[in-house]
Amino acid sequence: MRIAIPHTRQNPDIRFLGRLLGDVIRAYGGDALFRRVEYIRSASVDRHRGIAAPDSIELGLDALTLDDTISFVRGFMLFSMLANLAEDRQGVAAEPGADVAQAIARLEAEGIDRDRVTALLQQALVAPVLTAHPTEVRRKSTIDHRNHIAELMKLRDMGRTETDGGELVEEAIYRQIALLWQTRPLRRERLYVADEVETALAYLRDVFLPVIPALHARWERALGQRPPSFLKPGSWIGGDRDGNPNVTADSLRLALGRAAETVIGHYLDLLHRLGAELSISTELTPVTEEVIALAERSGDNSPSRSDEPFRRAITGVYSRLAATYRVLVGREPPRPPASADAEPYAYPADFRADLVAIAHALARDGDGALAGGGGLGRLIRAVETFGFHLATLDLRQNADVHERVVAELLNSAGVEADYRALDEEGRVALLRRELASSRPLSSPYVTYSDETASELAIVHAAAEAHARYGAEAITTYIISKAESVSDLLEVHILLKEAGLYVPGDTPTSAIMVVPLFETIADLENAPKVMTAWFALPEAATITAARGVQEVMVGYSDSNKDGGYLTSVWSLHQASRALAPVFERAGAAMQLFHGRGGAVGRGGGSSFMAIRAQPPGTVAGRIRITEQGEVIAAKYGTRESAVTNLEAMASATLLASLEPPQLAEAEYERFAGAMAKLSDTAFHAYRDLVYGTEGFRTFFRQFTPIAEIADLKIGSRPASRTKSDRIEDLRAIPWVFSWAQARVMLPGWYGVGQALAAFEDRGLLAEMVEGWPFLQSTLANLEMVLAKSDMEIAGHYVALVEDQAHGQAIFDRIRDGWHVTRDNLLDITGQSRLLEKSPALDESIRLRLPYIEPLNHLQIELLKRHRAGEDDPRIHEGIQLSINAIATALRNSG
Ligand code: PGA
Repeated sequence: MRIAIPHTRQNPDIRFLGRLLGDVIRAYGGDALFRRVEYIRSASVDRHRGIAAPDSIELGLDALTLDDTISFVRGFMLFSMLANLAEDRQGVAAEPGADVAQAIARLEAEGIDRDRVTALLQQALVAPVLTAHPTEVRRKSTIDHRNHIAELMKLRDMGRTETDGGELVEEAIYRQIALLWQTRPLRRERLYVADEVETALAYLRDVFLPVIPALHARWERALGQRPPSFLKPGSWIGGDRDGNPNVTADSLRLALGRAAETVIGHYLDLLHRLGAELSISTELTPVTEEVIALAERSGDNSPSRSDEPFRRAITGVYSRLAATYRVLVGREPPRPPASADAEPYAYPADFRADLVAIAHALARDGDGALAGGGGLGRLIRAVETFGFHLATLDLRQNADVHERVVAELLNSAGVEADYRALDEEGRVALLRRELASSRPLSSPYVTYSDETASELAIVHAAAEAHARYGAEAITTYIISKAESVSDLLEVHILLKEAGLYVPGDTPTSAIMVVPLFETIADLENAPKVMTAWFALPEAATITAARGVQEVMVGYSDSNKDGGYLTSVWSLHQASRALAPVFERAGAAMQLFHGRGGAVGRGGGSSFMAIRAQPPGTVAGRIRITEQGEVIAAKYGTRESAVTNLEAMASATLLASLEPPQLAEAEYERFAGAMAKLSDTAFHAYRDLVYGTEGFRTFFRQFTPIAEIADLKIGSRPASRTKSDRIEDLRAIPWVFSWAQARVMLPGWYGVGQALAAFEDRGLLAEMVEGWPFLQSTLANLEMVLAKSDMEIAGHYVALVEDQAHGQAIFDRIRDGWHVTRDNLLDITGQSRLLEKSPALDESIRLRLPYIEPLNHLQIELLKRHRAGEDDPRIHEGIQLSINAIATALRNSG
C-alpha cells in the first residue's frame, strides 16, 4: 500500500512497511484485489482529508465479494499492525524522568539524597503481574512474526543490507510480511489454560528472565550500591479462578511445574556457560577455602581440571541444581550433570549461598562481590528475583464462591446449618471461633459439591506448592467483589483446611489474603472494612508478622458501575483514605491496581498513573496487572520491556519520595470540586446506563457484544452468569464492544455534563494546571475522544431493531460526547483534540482512515448475520473485523 497522510510528518518506517505490504497483497492476492484495497484506502484517506464525498467509501465497499471482504480486512489489519510496530520503534516512553537514573537525579535536585532512595528500596516491591484476561486478539504466531520484523528493522537501522543468514534484509522483511499474510489470524480452536500458561512463560523466559537482572545491574550503577531485588514479576495464570471454571488445582500444578522447569533450566544454562568461562587456575591465582571446599565436594575429579577449582565448584553446583530439577520437574535436565547423586537444593537461598561463595572468591578483595554486570552477578540476581518459581502466582476467587463453600463446610461438619442466613456480625463471630480451633472442617469421608471439592483441592495444591517451590511461589490470595470482613475470614478458613493458616496464640498465615474492592460503594467502604479487619486480634497478629498488607482496587468494574470520572475519583479517594488506616494499624500498605489496556479499564500511561497516585499511598510498594494486548506491547521485546520496567520503577520512586505537588489546603479545595464533578458525572452515567428504559437491549443490538463473546481469545467464559443485566456482564466485553462501535463510552461518558455544570471555570483551570491526578485523567479521556467517532458510531444504530428508540438513545450519547469534547477543549485551552500532543495526534490520525472502512464492513456483516444468513464467511468476516479494529485502536477492551 502507498501511504499518504496529509498534514502529518510521516514515519518513514510506516511508509516502507506499507509499501512492502502492498507488494505482498499484489503478489499473493492478485492485482485486482490490490487495486480494490488501494481504492478504498485512498478514498478513505481522502475522506479524512475532507476532500471526498462521505459515501465514497461505502461505494467502494459495496463492490467487495465476501472473499474479497475477508482479504481486505486482513490487509487493513496487517497495515495497522505494521504501523503499531513502526511507532513502537520510535520509543515508548518519551516521558521525562521515566528511567531510574533520571528519577534519582531529579530527586537529588529536589534535595532528596540517594540514601533515602536506597532506604526506600530496602522495603520496596514493584511487580507487574501478568494475567490471562481475554483482550489479546492476535495469535502468538502473528505476534512472533511481528517481532521478527522488528528485529530485521533493527538490522536495517544499523545500515546492514544482509541478515546473518546472508539474505537481503529488505527481502527478509518482505518474506516475513508475506508469512503474516498467509497466517490465519483467527484461532480455530478455543484456548485452554495450558495455552495461556505457555504464552506467559514465553514472555517470562525470553524477556523477564534476562531483562530484570540487567536492569538491576544498571540501577546498581546509578545508585552507587547494590539495591535489593525489588522488581519481581507475578502471574495470575493458573491461579485466577474468578468466573473461570477451567482453572483448577491441576492448572495450578501445571503453571508452577512449567515455571520451575523454565527457571531452573535457565539457571542450568547460565551455570554451564559460567563453567566454560571461569577457567581460573590455582597456579596463577590464590583461591578461597570456601571455593576449594565446593570444588572438593563437587564430584568433579577430572585431572585436567584439578587446578581449576572454580570450574569444579560450578560443576558441583550444577549437579545439585540438576538434582533439584529432577525433584521439582520430575525428569532429567536436558544436559546431564557430572554427578548423578548430588543432593538437591532445598531452597533457592541455599543455591544462592553457593553462588555467593564463588562470587566472593572471585572478587578477592571482598568489594563488589555480587556486582551485577557479570554473568555470576546476574545469576545471583536472577535467583533472588525468580527463585525456583519464576513468577509469584496469585490465587483469585469470587467472594460469592467462598461464601457457598464455607457454608457447605460448616453445614456438613454440623457447625452451622445455614451460614448464609447469618448477618455480618453473626458470620464474623462464627468464623473467628472456627479460625481459633485447630480442628479442620472438611473430611475425606464426605462427598462435597464439585465447587467445594475444587476449592478445597486448590488450597491443598497451594500448600503442596509451598512445600515444593518455597513460599514465594504463592504469596497472595485475592478475593473478587470483596465487601466485608467476613469475606476475608472465609478465605482464612479455607487456608486453615490445608494448614496454610495455623491457629494459636500467635496465629500465622502463609498466604496473604487480599480484598479486591471493585464497585463504587465497595471502594467507598474499603477504609471501614480494613479498619474493622485490623481491629481483629488475629488479623493484627498476622499483619504485624508480615509487616505489610495488600489491598487490590479494580478499575473496570468501578467504571462499569459508576462511569469514568467517578471510578477514577473513587479509586483515588479510597487509596488516600486507606493510608491512615494502615498507618494506625502499623502496617505498610501495598496497593494492587487491577487495570487493563483500555482507558475504561484503567489503561493509559503507567508512568503518569503511578505518579498521580495520592501522596503516601505508594511508599515503594506497588503491584499492577498487565493484561492482554498490553503484555505484547510492553514486553514483546527486551527493549520495550526495559523501557517499560524502567518507567514503572522510576515512577514508583518519584511517587514515593517526591513531596506532594499540592499543599493540603489546595488539595482540599480541588478535592471538593472533584467530589462535585464526580457526583454530576455519576448521575449522568447511571441515568443513561442503568436508568434508561431499554438500554440493555440497545447495547446488545448496537454493539457486537454477542460476537465478541464468541472470539476464541481466552480460556474463560465471557460471562459469569446467564443474566444479560449490565451489572452481571464482565467488564471486558462491556468495554470491548463500545470500542468496536467507536463510542468508547466507558472512557468518557458523563464527564462533559459534569464539566459543563461546573461554574467556577477559574478553579477548573487551576486544577488542570496543577494537579497530576486530573492531568492524567484528562489526558486519557482526550485520547479516547480522539479515537472515538460519533459519525461512524451513528451507523451502528441501523443494527437496533427499534430504530426510533435506538436513535433517541444514540442522540443522548452523541450529545454527551460533544459536550465532553467542547468542555475539555475549553478547560485545556485547545482549539481541537490533541492539539498539545502532536505525536499522539499524528499516530491516531494516521490510523483513522484505516479503521473507518472496517467499521462499515462490520456493520454490513452484522446485519447479514443477524438476518440469519448462514454463510460461514460472514461469521469469519465479523470476527476478523473485530480483530482488525482492536488492532488498529491498539486497545481491545
Ligand atoms: P475481571 O477483570 O472481570 O477478571 O475482574 C475485569 C477487567 O480486568 O477488566
